[in-house]
Amino acid sequence: MAKIIRRERLVPNLHLLEIEAPQVARKCKPGQFVIIMPDERGERIPLNIADWDSEKGTVTSVFLVVGTSTQKLSILKSGDEVPVFVGPLGKQSEIKKFGTILCAGGCYGIGAVYPVARAMKEAGNKVISLLDVKANYLLYWEDKLKAVSDEFFVSSRDSYYDCKEFIPKVLKDVVKTTKIDRVISYGCTYLMYTCSEATRPLGIKTIVSLNPIMLDGTGMCGACRVSVDESTKFACVDGPDFDGHLVDWQELFSRRKSYFDDEIQSLCYWEKENFPKS
Ligand code: FES
Repeated sequence: MAKIIRRERLVPNLHLLEIEAPQVARKCKPGQFVIIMPDERGERIPLNIADWDSEKGTVTSVFLVVGTSTQKLSILKSGDEVPVFVGPLGKQSEIKKFGTILCAGGCYGIGAVYPVARAMKEAGNKVISLLDVKANYLLYWEDKLKAVSDEFFVSSRDSYYDCKEFIPKVLKDVVKTTKIDRVISYGCTYLMYTCSEATRPLGIKTIVSLNPIMLDGTGMCGACRVSVDESTKFACVDGPDFDGHLVDWQELFSRRKSYFDDEIQSLCYWEKENFPKS
């Protein structure tokens, strides 16, 4: 069992979860993830590690509410316990001095890219953070990202920030004036795909953190298989970071949709059971 220290809604539909897990916190590295089960009947879901405190013994993730399991997570309170919390899993991101790094994050990926941006800064890189939100009220962790960035941009579809364009267009504009040595793109599959397509013709290496369906998270079940550079990889042990220019994105999109109908049904049953009058 692992105890919830904090669960709070950061912005609509995105929540922060801080869990007491000293053994996990001691070993966390940027780019890794954890697997959590909200209850004993729930599924195992992978969450990127967004921060950790090895002295306090806590691990923090940011998650988007998309189905039954994340709904269950979103109503946990501090003091509650989850039956399974495993990690850190996956390989850590490649951190070294590359020059100038552009960290592009959207949705839960804003939290997930934070430890990578911080580590890249500590390794002596110039860090440019580029965050994408649909509207200004969906932005979170602005202060944390600014603190580890040399330059900081936000693009949102409303008129609140300077730019209304979707992130790949902004990315292309930035690279016209600044030499970028590596792009790190974390967030939903579509964001990572479009960022990779934007940098492909420019030849800028682009690292993405893949988010296929996972079960065990240790390379045993094969649920998380993805095709990268025409060979099969397991995102949980070979990744989750991969070169975005080598990923078979269409296969990933289609595999992620495998349980779409079941997810909707499951959520309907769960809501009826838990909120019968709503
Ligand atoms: Fe089972 Fe990766 S989640 S092999």
